[in-house]
This record gives sequence, C-alpha cells and structure tokens, in this order.
Amino acid sequence: MRIDIITCLPDLLKSPFNHSILKRAQDKKLVEIHVHDLRDYAINKQRQVDDYQFGGGAGMVLMIEPIDKCILKLKSEREYDEIIYLSPDGESLTQPVANKLSLEKNMIMLCGHYKGVDERVREHIITKEISIGDYVLSGGELAAIVLSDTIIRLIPGVLSDETSALSDSFQDNLIAPPVYTRPADYKGLKVPEILLSGHTGKIEEWRQSQSIQRTKERRSGLIDD
Ligand code: ADE
Repeated sequence: MRIDIITCLPDLLKSPFNHSILKRAQDKKLVEIHVHDLRDYAINKQRQVDDYQFGGGAGMVLMIEPIDKCILKLKSEREYDEIIYLSPDGESLTQPVANKLSLEKNMIMLCGHYKGVDERVREHIITKEISIGDYVLSGGELAAIVLSDTIIRLIPGVLSDETSALSDSFQDNLIAPPVYTRPADYKGLKVPEILLSGHTGKIEEWRQSQSIQRTKERRSGLIDD
C-alpha cells in the first residue's frame, strides 16, 4: 500500500510515522508513506496556498490550484483508488470503513486547514471525505494520522500476531474483553480465576461473554447495529 499525504504542515506528520507499528510497517515494506508539502505547489514565490473567501467572512481557504497541481502530478505517476479529504463533515471513520480502505493499493489524503478548502476541490477532485469524530480539529493532519494508523495495522504482516487486529474492539461490533498480566494478585486485586485455569475453551467462552456484556453496558448502539 502507498499513502500520499498532502499538507501545509509536513513536520507535524513526521514523528507518528517514525515510531512503533507505523515505522515497522514501512521498514517491512508493507506500506510507503509520502508526505507532500502543499507549499511546494504554491501559486507564487511567497509560497501562498490560501486566500480570503469570496463573499467575505473570517478565515482563510485553501486554494484549488496548488491542490490540483499536486494531485495531478501524483496521478500522472500512478493510479489512485481513493483521494480522501479529512473533514469534520465527512463520513464517520468506523472499523468497517477502515477495513475496506485497508484493501486499497494507493490513496491520497488531503489535510485541510484554516476554514477548509475551496468547495470545487471537494466537488471535482476528492473521491471520499472522512471525519474522525464529531469535533473540530485545527487541521486534517491529526485525522490523517489516525486514519492511516487504523488502516495500516490491518495490513497482513504489520502486526506480529496477525490475529490481534481481528480481536480488536469493534471487529464483530463488539468491544474487546478485559486483559490482565502479572502479577495474578496485586495487593489483593486478583485476576479472574478462569484466566489462570488453562482451559482454553472456557477462557474463550468467558472472553466472548465479557465482550457482549461490556458492549451492552458501554456501547449498546453497536449491538443494535
Ligand atoms: N479536520 C478538522 N476536524 C476534523 C475531524 N473531526 N475529522 C477529520 N478531519 C478534520
């Protein structure tokens, strides 16, 4: 998989992609992440990429020209399955959305800033809009990191134990069961006996019932879905 991220703040994206699972996935050549500075496609020497909105009103808007130039260059080099704009009014990011995107080969993620992007970008260039939640971030960069992480960890081979992504919360519309590690007794706080029993089948049953109980208590909407 290849992910091209277009942003005015390329440095903001460096650290998250250079640590832990996202770094390992790149080292193993399971994913390529390319960050593009939108200002490299600016309309003038001042590296301008935004302007005041027509009709008046506070806040700058990202212009269509730099975005179009950057995306045209990328599209001339390879085909893209999706060109995603991160926006609070996009489709909500859920596990099924991430599962589906994890099957794609090449995608572009465009990070908005300020008041957003010229609407013509959304109408004519973008193929999908995604929101990571009903709140407003200062820009799309953090959302692009969240989206990339949810997708990349699903690529076979990225996680050392492949089954662990399948047993995540929200796969099967259930929240994951509780987990414990040593010590089995910490100041009288005990790990459930069943987990120490060695009965694999019973443990699996217990985990399943915990998942269902937790989902009912905390996120009953998932079960209704
Ligand atoms: N940009 C600003 N807020 C956002 C959100 N909630 N999701 C995706 N992109 C955003």
